[in-house]
Amino acid sequence: MAKIDKVFSNPIGKIPPFTFNEKVAHVFDDMAERSIPFYKEVQKMITDLTITFFQPGSKIYDLGCSTATTSALVYQSLIDHGINEFFIKGIDSSQPMCDEARVKLDSINASGDHVLITHGDFLSEDIHDASVVIMNYTLQFIDPLKREQLITKIYNGLRHNGVLLVSDKLLQSNTDISRTFIDKYYNMKRLNGYSELEISQKREALENVLIPYTLEEETDLFRQCGFKGVDPFFSWYNFTSFICIKK
Ligand SMILES: C[S@@+](CC[C@H](N)C(=O)[O-])C[C@H]1O[C@@H](n2cnc3c(N)ncnc32)[C@H](O)[C@@H]1O
Repeated sequence: MAKIDKVFSNPIGKIPPFTFNEKVAHVFDDMAERSIPFYKEVQKMITDLTITFFQPGSKIYDLGCSTATTSALVYQSLIDHGINEFFIKGIDSSQPMCDEARVKLDSINASGDHVLITHGDFLSEDIHDASVVIMNYTLQFIDPLKREQLITKIYNGLRHNGVLLVSDKLLQSNTDISRTFIDKYYNMKRLNGYSELEISQKREALENVLIPYTLEEETDLFRQCGFKGVDPFFSWYNFTSFICIKK
């Protein structure tokens, strides 16, 4: 049965910073589908690109895997393509998310030999021999001072022709355009059933927790860390997904 996101539905006096706690993990799939534009479509595109760039014998990393929606789709797609030798490593710093992830993976019989979920901080985890590294709506939560070191580590851990796939909320460089895109985004949330109270309380909770870059800043970051090919493959107002290839 679908677990409906009601995390911000009641008035909260002093709103604490947003965390990926048990309450959030429990309803995360519904939260993601109703809060992230074209969430399912982006998941499909990420899966499709992963199949295209996967190199036999290499590793696939899903950094900030949450409930393992992406890892589960990639696992199923590899199996459906007749590929049996692969290793997906999902890493998340929230134990409740890791618990939800394992339940989802068990439900599709994805064994730990194929998909390993690790509870930890990917800033301090090794990345090596990867052909695909996925960061779906996760880089935006990383301290900007640590982003360059992280992307450099990912670049170094990728094989030649390997890819980094990133989706993030972005900030527009023009304030009028930024305001317009944010309005369109909140309108999408209204259409998906969120109340004004839910929208405003979550916005406050995310302040200084989700720190968006502009398209230029994000693209420059990937290029400065070594990626030669950097292109958006999906965009909707203030959300963009990038493919970065190591050449
Ligand atoms: C918005 S969610 C990601 C959604 C998920 N990738 C998807 O496509 O459904 C961000 C996740 O990143 C995790 N996270 C944030 N910083 C992290 C870090 N330094 N190490 C590991 N996980 C982290 C959070 O716990 C959270 O589950």
